[in-house]
Amino acid sequence: MVPAAGRGERLGPGVPKAMRLLGGVPLLVHAVRALAEARLVDVVVVAAPPDQVSEVRAILDAHRVPAEVSVVAGGDTRQQSVRLALEAVSADVVLVHDAARPLAPAELADDVARCVLDGADAVVPVLAIADTVKEVDTGGQVVRTVDRDTLRLVQTPQGFKRAVLLAAHSHAENEGGSATDDAGLVERAGGQVVVVPGSPEAFKVTRPIDLIVAEALLARRRGGRAI
Ligand code: CTP
Ligand code: MG
Repeated sequence: MVPAAGRGERLGPGVPKAMRLLGGVPLLVHAVRALAEARLVDVVVVAAPPDQVSEVRAILDAHRVPAEVSVVAGGDTRQQSVRLALEAVSADVVLVHDAARPLAPAELADDVARCVLDGADAVVPVLAIADTVKEVDTGGQVVRTVDRDTLRLVQTPQGFKRAVLLAAHSHAENEGGSATDDAGLVERAGGQVVVVPGSPEAFKVTRPIDLIVAEALLARRRGGRAI
């Protein structure tokens, strides 16, 4: 599933982020390929901005991808968009991948899916943190330096047994909870989440500089060069 219904406010004015171009191709198409090109993925469901469902359908039809793709209307929040896409999926294992992570390698989706197929309820790809991390108070004073060795940056695609993710969403709806990622909902529901190594190429396009980095990386890939 690809939640793609966000506006992309931090990226600046323009069309919704999923429709912004990277190497002449919408971010969404790259992200759908990151799942569709995985060996273990057969079907992709996209949650589109509710007023752009037909445009998104047309874009995906124009860029053939090696999987069956369906498009549903997303919601006001990422969590709602994932929930709506989840209702359109019947597979036992689901991957959730941000449209905003266009250059995630398809191998990463396979690694995550494999881990779920091997028995995990919920799987997230993670990276170690390179920078020092500090806790800061509202007045701008440093409270302390956090031990980064036990912290990880979390990416997508995240993988789940469908029943586990559905139960986690229902739990959040009943308790009024929210989380910034899908695994966070599983944690809140008392579930176990395991990690696999992430990829630096699975970074999220959030601010304008991220699009510049993504263009450079894509140009290297298209030129057949490694990073
Ligand atoms: N998303 C979604 N539905 C929403 C909000 C977000 O499907 N109502 C999706 C976005 O399209 C994106 C992913 O969730 O692929 C990660 O969200 P984020 O990077 O925050 O994207 P936006 O919400 O679009 O960006 P911003 O927060 O800067 O507006
Ligand atoms: Mg957002």
